[in-house]
Amino acid sequence: MSHTWIIHGDCLDVLPRLPAARMVFLDPPDNLGVKYDGCEDRMDDAVYYTWLCHVVLAAVHRAPIVWLSHYYRHTCRLLPQLPLYVRGQQMRLFLWRYTFGQHRSRDCGNGYRPILRIARQDVVWHTDAIRVPSARQKNGDKRADPRGRVPDDVWEFSRVCGTFKERRPWALNQHPEALMERIVQLSCQPGDLVIDAFSHSFTTARVCRRLGIDCVSIEKSLPYCTNGAAELETSVITPPAAGPIELVGWAGQGHKEHE
Ligand SMILES: C[S@@+](CC[C@H](N)C(=O)[O-])C[C@H]1O[C@@H](n2cnc3c(N)ncnc32)[C@H](O)[C@@H]1O
Repeated sequence: MSHTWIIHGDCLDVLPRLPAARMVFLDPPDNLGVKYDGCEDRMDDAVYYTWLCHVVLAAVHRAPIVWLSHYYRHTCRLLPQLPLYVRGQQMRLFLWRYTFGQHRSRDCGNGYRPILRIARQDVVWHTDAIRVPSARQKNGDKRADPRGRVPDDVWEFSRVCGTFKERRPWALNQHPEALMERIVQLSCQPGDLVIDAFSHSFTTARVCRRLGIDCVSIEKSLPYCTNGAAELETSVITPPAAGPIELVGWAGQGHKEHE
């Protein structure tokens, strides 16, 4: 059985006090003025990029694998500002291609969300866990690998519309569970620890629980934490003012690289 912890707090304060994990997932506010509970989401651009660099650095110090989902306009400005320590890691940009997009007439609309993967050089990826049916399989070609193929770095998933069953009515936005499943399965195995630093509707926690993976969810808004805790049948942890944060019930010893 996997464990789920929900920690109410600011990720920059909480992350450095958690045990080492296998993966950290980051889906910060995009600085576009979304009205999250208790969060302005409207900083000066320079302040936003500096803050984001601090978050990424804190995440990289916590786990060998970090995924940063972000707004497409931030990629070009963020990458050169990342600390050298981060840029020295294996960095790869994945695209979540929306299966429906925004329609614009004055310029082309945006049909994807970039997800930057930052990983230590020696990380082993669990590619067999995310295989998909190949074109050869679909065409009945006998040469097809019966296991399917490992997807490339452009991943097509629908955004979570208001009418979808997985949509939480109170959530302002959500990553699709199918996308999170692919990220978690490529990165982790049962027994690993995942940290989601911006949990909102607790998509990562739900997916990790299904996959038998331990998950710590950090969220700054207490109402969002309370919603998540009710659904996941756990309690909200208020961390001590200082010192390490203990994950009660956790048997893990911090991250160990897979063989
Ligand atoms: C874009 S949403 C995350 C959506 C999430 N991936 C999902 O699928 O539901 C960002 C969340 O980060 C929270 N947040 C903003 N600043 C934070 C901080 N410094 N530490 C922790 N959470 C924060 C907001 O309250 C909001 O719930």
